[in-house]
Amino acid sequence: MSEAAPPAALSVRDLRKTYDNGVEALKGVSLDVAPGDFYALLGPNGAGKSTLIGIVSSLVNKTSGEVRVFDVDLHAERDRAMRLLGLVPQEINFNMFEKPLDILVNYAGFYGIPRAEAMVRAEEELRSAQLWDKAEKMSRTLSGGMKRRLMIARAMMTRPKLLILDEPTAGVDIEIRRGMWQTLRRINASGTTIILTTHYLEEAENLCRNLAIIDHGRIVEAGPMRALLSRLDVEGFLFDVEDDLPAMLPDVPGAQVRAADAHTLDVDMPRAMDLNRVFAALDAAGIRVRSMRNKSNRLEELFVRMTGDPGAAATPARAATPPGPNGPAA
Ligand SMILES: Nc1ncnc2c1ncn2[C@@H]1O[C@H](COP(=O)(O)OP(=O)(O)OP(=O)(O)O)[C@@H](O)[C@H]1O
Ligand SMILES: [Mg+2]
Repeated sequence: MSEAAPPAALSVRDLRKTYDNGVEALKGVSLDVAPGDFYALLGPNGAGKSTLIGIVSSLVNKTSGEVRVFDVDLHAERDRAMRLLGLVPQEINFNMFEKPLDILVNYAGFYGIPRAEAMVRAEEELRSAQLWDKAEKMSRTLSGGMKRRLMIARAMMTRPKLLILDEPTAGVDIEIRRGMWQTLRRINASGTTIILTTHYLEEAENLCRNLAIIDHGRIVEAGPMRALLSRLDVEGFLFDVEDDLPAMLPDVPGAQVRAADAHTLDVDMPRAMDLNRVFAALDAAGIRVRSMRNKSNRLEELFVRMTGDPGAAATPARAATPPGPNGPAA
């Protein structure tokens, strides 16, 4: 006899939320997040992401629908469900005049964790967040990135099985963001299911295995990251060329070639097409390529198509180098 499938870390069914002012923030959202998953919730401003997270973390009252956390009904057994869940809200919300160690130990106290145990966990979490040397410093003196890591360390104090982060890296520079990715990967690798919302699509593409795109209160797309990306059939590249481009641009069958400016070629081509064909055509026309890059992040492209909101995408184009003897690395 086959064993029953383990319950979803998060299961949301036909969730609806109408705020008092009449705004329908969620119009029947259903999604499942598998245990152990790293799941991204993407969507433009006002899509309903924070409302969804707010309901799951009991900060916002739903209008209707069902939420289960590891099969525990949030409505029927709120406290039990909440003990399974850790939340990192978007805004930094600890007391800047407390020390990191106290912030963590006091937080654990709210959850009934005895002080001695809390001290042990706090050291562990601060070390893993690379904040142990800041344990006794005033929190206000921490850098922005350290404050973000402290928020994550605090959420981990209760050993949640599901960690939810609402735009954890909003407004932090790329270096700090990469550091936080490492932290989150480590937490996920140790068995914690992670759901995050982000405006940085590069972040979702780097970290997450599955995603849902939410727009105007509805899921417009959901599934494995790879499957969604592979559905994108067109890819765009920008080639920086050495000399001025000729008036007659080379013809590359199957691809669209335009001059973006005198030294930049803009090429759209089917994903399946070999990039070397473009290089061969350019080479034959005597055009020497100095460098090339993806016109946009692929996920960004998908996102724009699904939501029609180019303004919501905040990902810088990825840098790439011309292909070596083995063809493009992309
Ligand atoms: N407390 C509230 N009262 C009334 N309307 C609200 C409230 N909170 C959010 N809304 C509205 O609900 C909709 C969804 O907002 P929500 O904050 O969930 O979006 P979001 O996807 O998190 O956006 P962002 O990316 O900007 O954080 C928006 O139209 C918003 O104005
Ligand atoms: Mg939000």
